[in-house]
Amino acid sequence: MTTLKTQVAIVGAGPAGLLLGALLHRAGIANIIIERQSPEYVLSRIRAGILEQVSVDLLHEAGVGSGVSDGGIVHHSIDLVFKNTRHPIEVTHLTGGKVVTAYGQTELTRDLMEQRSALGLTSIYQVIEVDLHGIDGTQPSVSYKTTDHSERQTIECDFVAGCDGFHGVARQHIPKNILQEFERVYPFGWLGVLADVPPVSPHAIVYANSERGFALCSMRSLTRSRYYVQCPMSDQVSDWSDDRFWDELKRRLDPELAEKMVTGPSIEKSIAPLRSYVAEPMRHGRLFLAGDACHIVPPTGAKGLNLAATDVKYLSQAFIDYYRTQKTLGIDEYSAKCLKRIWKAERFSWWLTSLMHRFPDTAGFGQKIQEAELEYLVKSESLSRSLAENYVGLPLDFDQ
Ligand code: APR
Ligand code: PHB
Repeated sequence: MTTLKTQVAIVGAGPAGLLLGALLHRAGIANIIIERQSPEYVLSRIRAGILEQVSVDLLHEAGVGSGVSDGGIVHHSIDLVFKNTRHPIEVTHLTGGKVVTAYGQTELTRDLMEQRSALGLTSIYQVIEVDLHGIDGTQPSVSYKTTDHSERQTIECDFVAGCDGFHGVARQHIPKNILQEFERVYPFGWLGVLADVPPVSPHAIVYANSERGFALCSMRSLTRSRYYVQCPMSDQVSDWSDDRFWDELKRRLDPELAEKMVTGPSIEKSIAPLRSYVAEPMRHGRLFLAGDACHIVPPTGAKGLNLAATDVKYLSQAFIDYYRTQKTLGIDEYSAKCLKRIWKAERFSWWLTSLMHRFPDTAGFGQKIQEAELEYLVKSESLSRSLAENYVGLPLDFDQ
C-alpha cells in the first residue's frame, strides 16, 4: 500500500476543491486533490457562469484572475420580462456600484486546473472506492484505488476537505444522528442550450416569466450564448429539436428581444432538475464540507458557484489561521459562519425561482400573487434594491 502525506486532503476537483487547493498553496499549506473523473470529463460539464465580485476577487487572490479579467463580461443590470414587457433592474445603480461578471464555470475550472498543473501540485484523477478514515481523531486519512493500481492508496493528513459535490462520499461520513438535511425539489427542470451565436442581450441577463413558463438569456462570451427554458421533468433532451427550442424561447420573451434573437445549432443541450438543499453541520471532527457537497440552490439566482467560492474563502482562512496560530477558533466557527450566508442565498434563490417560474399547482390565486409581486417589484425601488443586493452577493461582513 502506497502512503502519501499532506496537510489537507481535498476530495473533488471541481471549482471548490481546485480553488481551495490554490488558496492553501499560496499560504504554504500542502494539499493533495483526488478526483473521481478525468480532467476532460470535469471540463466537459456545462454549468452556470455568473460571478459575484467576491468570487472574482477570490480568483485574483488565488492567482488566476487574468482569465476572468480578460474573458469575463461585466454586467450592470438584469432584465425581468413578464406580460410581454421587459423591465431593467439597474443592479449597479441600486447597489452603489456593484457588478456581476459572466464567466463560465468551465473556463474558471480550466484556469485553476492549468495553474495547479503548472505549479506541479498533486492531483490524482480517476480514483475509485474513496473512503475517509479517522475523521473523529487527530490523524485522519483518505484511501482510494486508481484504475491502474489494484492496491489501495492512502493519504495521511491533518484535515479532509469534502469538495466532492452533491453525489460525493464526504457528506456520508457525517453520522446520521448528527447530520440534518433540508430540501425542496421543484416540479420542473431547466432545458439549457449552448450555441455559438451572439447573445441577444449582451448587457443584461434576461429572466422571463411567461404564460408558457420561465426562460433565461445569458452568455459565455460575445460570440457564445447560454439559454434556458423551464420544462417538465418528464421531458427528454430528445424531445427538443433545436428548432423547437428556439421557437419556444422566443415565445417566452418580449417581441423586441424575440425579433433580435440570433439562432444556430446547439453545441450542448441538457435538462437539469431544480432543488434547494442544505446539509448541516458542514464540519465533523477533521472533515470539512464545502460547495455542492453540502448545499444546492436552484440556478435561478446564479448562487451555486458563488456559494462554493465563499465556503472556500472561509475554509482556507480557517486552515491558515490554524497553522499560523495553532488556535482552532476559525475551524470551530467555519460551519456556522458559512451557513448564515448559505441560508440567505438559499432564500434568495428560492424567492426568485418562486417568482419567475410557472408552478403546475398554483394557477388562479398563486398566479395572481406572482403577477402582483412582479408589478410591485419593478415599481418599488426598495424591493428592486433588495433583489439587486442579493444578486450581486451580500457583503462578506453582512452577518458580522
Ligand atoms: N471521489 C473523488 N471525487 C469525487 C467523488 C468521489 N467519491 N464524488 C464526486 N467527486 C468529484 C466530482 O466528479 C466533481 O468533479 O467532486 C467534484 C465536485 O465538483 P462540483 O460538483 O462541481 O461541486 P463544487 O466544486 O462544489 O462546485 C459547485 O458546481 O455543480 C456546480 O452549480 C454548482 O456552480 C456550482 C459548482
Ligand atoms: C448562466 O449563464 O448559465 C446563468 C446565468 C444566470 C443564472 C443562471 C445561469 O441565474
